[in-house]
Amino acid sequence: MTISADREQRPSLPIVDHARGKRSPVTCRLKCADACLGPECNTSQNVSFRSVVQTAFSRRALLGGAAAGALAIASTSVDRPAPALAAPATTGLPFDPIAPVDASVDSFVVPAGYTWAPLIRWGDPVLAGAPVFHLAAQSPAAQAMQFGYNNDYLDILVDEGGLTGVLVANHEYVNPGIMFPPSSDAAELRRRGEIYKAAQGMSVVEVVRDAPGAPWRTVPGGRRNRRITVETPFALTGPAAGSALLRTAADPEGRTVLGTLGNCAGGTTPWGTVLSGEENVNGYFSAPADSPERARYGFAQRPTSTGWETWDPRFDGTAAGFENEANRFGYIVEIDPSDPTSTPVKHTAMGRFKHEGANVTIAEDGRVVAYMGDDERGDYLYKFVSKHRVNRGRGPGARRANLRLLSEGDLFVARFTGDSPAAEIDGSGRLPQDGAFDGSGEWIALTRDGRSAVPGMTVEQVLVHTRLAADLVGATKMDRCEDVEPHPTTGRVYIACTNNTRRGIDAPVDEANPRLANRDGHVIELVESHGQAGARFVWSILLLCGDPSGAALTYFAGFPPAMVSPISCPDNVAFDSEGNLWISTDGAPSTIRKNDGLFKVPLEGPDRCRVQQFLSVPRDAETCGPVIRAQEGMVLVAVQHPGEDGTVDAPTSLFPDYGSTEPGAVRAPRPSVVQVWRD
Ligand code: FEO
Ligand code: CA
Ligand code: CA
Repeated sequence: MTISADREQRPSLPIVDHARGKRSPVTCRLKCADACLGPECNTSQNVSFRSVVQTAFSRRALLGGAAAGALAIASTSVDRPAPALAAPATTGLPFDPIAPVDASVDSFVVPAGYTWAPLIRWGDPVLAGAPVFHLAAQSPAAQAMQFGYNNDYLDILVDEGGLTGVLVANHEYVNPGIMFPPSSDAAELRRRGEIYKAAQGMSVVEVVRDAPGAPWRTVPGGRRNRRITVETPFALTGPAAGSALLRTAADPEGRTVLGTLGNCAGGTTPWGTVLSGEENVNGYFSAPADSPERARYGFAQRPTSTGWETWDPRFDGTAAGFENEANRFGYIVEIDPSDPTSTPVKHTAMGRFKHEGANVTIAEDGRVVAYMGDDERGDYLYKFVSKHRVNRGRGPGARRANLRLLSEGDLFVARFTGDSPAAEIDGSGRLPQDGAFDGSGEWIALTRDGRSAVPGMTVEQVLVHTRLAADLVGATKMDRCEDVEPHPTTGRVYIACTNNTRRGIDAPVDEANPRLANRDGHVIELVESHGQAGARFVWSILLLCGDPSGAALTYFAGFPPAMVSPISCPDNVAFDSEGNLWISTDGAPSTIRKNDGLFKVPLEGPDRCRVQQFLSVPRDAETCGPVIRAQEGMVLVAVQHPGEDGTVDAPTSLFPDYGSTEPGAVRAPRPSVVQVWRD
């Protein structure tokens, strides 16, 4: 394969179906390898179950009442002791919702009474000795010491005392077209490729502040600071570690992988580590879809946006000895931000797919439960239940034990069953006669006690080719599960289904995915019926997103649509200390072409599902990694791919420097972590 100038030129891009509202086709190409351009990868005949099987007693009888309030009843009567469900009387984050901001505007917008500032930007120093960022003088060595590109997952793990902490962020992908001017020089393209390897992965950066609620500052060269790149060694854990499916010429043991790719959302564990989802990993490989496994994961032989396959055999799916390299990406990775010398791990027990992220809770019996989405149209929702119980001790022994929790356990995939007649799910979004898109469901085991639970597949096959295993057991095809997160006090699980414009073409509507050509996405509320580690659940749709004044039907759990902020393409979810859900978006309603934002969604009381927009990110950008500290009057977000559609000579965004002449400022868009605080 030869290096061509094409890679560095702006490609001619198709108008992708899900890009009609606001998302750029450039983002679809670079981030997801145009995953939404053609038919779904999932061609299995594994169609969603509808209300074919009615439960012995109807779900409505179980819940007794209107759907919105009923889940709270289910939560208390079926699952657990009654949580405090009253809406909080006070809030540390009072605001009047902002108006949606037009997609041509290159501004970061917050409500009256709030101030924003970048906390760390692409190119800012992380490790000691990192040079000041210069757009035109970037090098692989400099980038490996600086904050990476396109931050997505974000958290700050606050130390005891509350004035210091450590920021952890993912770096999902790069955009060569706005990092460098066009070039056709092979040596220069290879040098840039090494920069891309250093710009991806993860960053760990110490932060300090003067008081709780005051803005954080980064500590360049801090003791715990770390950059994890596409060359950082990771140890594989779990039943598939060492499998023949994971061995390569460079790693004949099949236990050590260099790097992590496509790191999208994530989660912070109760034992102080950070999980990160390897998502669109197929886009980094030029690998022919010459097997059912490769086809099912979307691999193709084509030039990649980074060009790595032209000199690094790891990314050339035809290179002898490296046929399995692609099998070594697509996992949940775990890093310990307290120890910069620790070896990060990839957990095969949690399965391999386009992992959006993983969010952990502790079940009643002390086992750890992780909820995970596969963000591809027609793919599935998963749950992992650890074999061992969390160790609540504070010593190093407890910590060592907890660091192994995600290496052993059982993996499940979800099957949703609606409780309304199929004829009432007409694809329009109109509620069925029982007043809710709702039903029951089950978690189907893919592995049990370290062994395969799928006839005809070994445990290694199940954990490396997890999508194919899930195809065989009747899992429900979903409208792209992005973030999936359990509520910290009620235990209810919130599932952001971001969109699926081919719903009704590749798979029929069902009650859990009830809209044809689901352009704006929806959010599902799931309640475990027998505890967090149990095998049965009930569910209902909380939000059918969109522009309430547009043609598509929307639903806000019964709250009047005329009183909500329009919201589309829900992506990351988070909770504040007052129990509210917050949703960040990756796309706007097709009717209004507005910038992405962050939205507050109360879950209790008369304002349940009164969606209110808190902030708006700049032109072309996506809102990621929200961290909500209501008690401190503080919100942090990761602003990903600002100015995606521009070039170095003609940027479409100058966020966040906006012409600043301070050292390190540049005249180019920079993915950044932003903090917002009450004045
Ligand atoms: Fe990287 Fe599913 O968003
Ligand atoms: Ca129903
Ligand atoms: Ca995402």
